[in-house]
Amino acid sequence: MKDLHQQAARWGQWAPYYDEETRNQDPSAAAAVLSDLAGDGAALELGIGTGRVAFPLAEWGTPVFGLDASQKMINRLEEHQKQTPEGHSPVQARIGDMARFDLGTHYPLVYVIASTLFLLTEQEDQVSCFRSAARHLAPQGRFVVEAAVPHTSGMSSERQQMIVREMSEEHLSWSAFVHDPVHQIVRAQEVRVGPDGYRLLPKVMRYAYPAELDLMAQLAGLRLERRTADWKGSPFTATSTHHVSVYSRQSAAAEPSQASGHGPSLRSKTSS
Ligand SMILES: C[S@@+](CC[C@H](N)C(=O)[O-])C[C@H]1O[C@@H](n2cnc3c(N)ncnc32)[C@H](O)[C@@H]1O
Repeated sequence: MKDLHQQAARWGQWAPYYDEETRNQDPSAAAAVLSDLAGDGAALELGIGTGRVAFPLAEWGTPVFGLDASQKMINRLEEHQKQTPEGHSPVQARIGDMARFDLGTHYPLVYVIASTLFLLTEQEDQVSCFRSAARHLAPQGRFVVEAAVPHTSGMSSERQQMIVREMSEEHLSWSAFVHDPVHQIVRAQEVRVGPDGYRLLPKVMRYAYPAELDLMAQLAGLRLERRTADWKGSPFTATSTHHVSVYSRQSAAAEPSQASGHGPSLRSKTSS
């Protein structure tokens, strides 16, 4: 719970800037794949944020319910909701901890994207997130995890490092990191200085390699159904920097999969 309050405070700092910071990330391929996996049902997003992917997914006709630690992020989402054209599926969110939740509902799709799983900074909480997600899956449901593949070879242990992100005549932005390889924790500050002053956007993440995530899935009674390098279905290889991992119930292993193709092999689903 302490971690939840800390994350809420951190993401409260991000809330006014999050949409601007992610404006170059096109959510359409993610929304198409997720819509395909949700079928005619609703989806549950863990750490829904401002609804960056939830709104495009709702445009495909999938109602999305989300949990988030930060009321300020949810407030932004609700502002977007007010601007949604009539006829689109709803996006709703409430405060909740993705490590432990009990919504009393089953979903064909539960997903956690953009490395949001790593915001749970204890391994135990990440396992608990897999367990909570598994408990909310319909019998043929899928749990989708999209995350970065950790690349820590350039990060010195326990030493501070900085990377310049953007530099112009008017502004400078950089990231500062401290890496703790024992606990697989990276603490970061994104700093931006410009004519309006400066801002600090903090992040603390516990990274995990895909193999560790697969083990967490096993502990939750799930198995890896497929893994791609991106939302377009590119093969996952040793040089992939990201992964989109689709898990289903272990007991569903022998049953034919309805959504086992790679990439956005979409049924025609009308978006209004
Ligand atoms: C990187 S943002 C991702 C937002 C959205 N999923 C997206 O793809 O744009 C991470 C979000 O996770 C939320 N978060 C962090 N810890 C959480 C927790 N324990 N439970 C629920 N949400 C959490 C943050 O408040 C933030 O809105």
